[in-house]
Amino acid sequence: MQIAVLASGNGSNFEAIVRASKRGEIKSQISVLIVDKKSSYAITRAKYLGVKYVIVELANFSDKQSYEQEIVNILKAYNIDFICLAGYMKIVSETLLSAYQGRIINIHPTLLPKYKGKFGFDLSLESMDEELGATVHHVNNQLDGGEIIDQIRFLRKGKTLEELEKELHENEHILYVRVIKEMEEK
Ligand code: GRF
Repeated sequence: MQIAVLASGNGSNFEAIVRASKRGEIKSQISVLIVDKKSSYAITRAKYLGVKYVIVELANFSDKQSYEQEIVNILKAYNIDFICLAGYMKIVSETLLSAYQGRIINIHPTLLPKYKGKFGFDLSLESMDEELGATVHHVNNQLDGGEIIDQIRFLRKGKTLEELEKELHENEHILYVRVIKEMEEK
């Protein structure tokens, strides 16, 4: 598959996917990174990993539809057939969804359907849940609402906030690569 990653922030999942591709753990190529913020650290990662990137900012478009149409145009130009959202902080709308029906997945830092939305991890920390985790799911027009593909879990007991955040990200990277591998075998 030719994969595009869409990100807004740090980009550690993007880097994990690219590294898995480089070492042959997944067969797919990560052909382009699309970011919606020029401050995204994912851009720095794309530079040192040697992955092409494009910045597409909503503020430069008259509406969400034309913004997403530009993203679709870029995806087509790169012959992308699969999209991984990784810390992409926008709801995907009809223009992008219909162009890539069933071929967009996202990672969320909780065990969905618990704790949807951008404060999901904080909510899971505030809960009394003994298990934390992450979910990769199909994307539809509902916030973190598409069908669940796979999850990964870890225990919180006795760990500091920093340790839990580190463990979350390590687990996310394992999960995302595992799911892409599963998708390739389908
Ligand atoms: C991850 O925790 C992911 O679950 C959430 O946003 C975060 C992105 O992290 N959707 P990164 O930018 O990949 O480091």
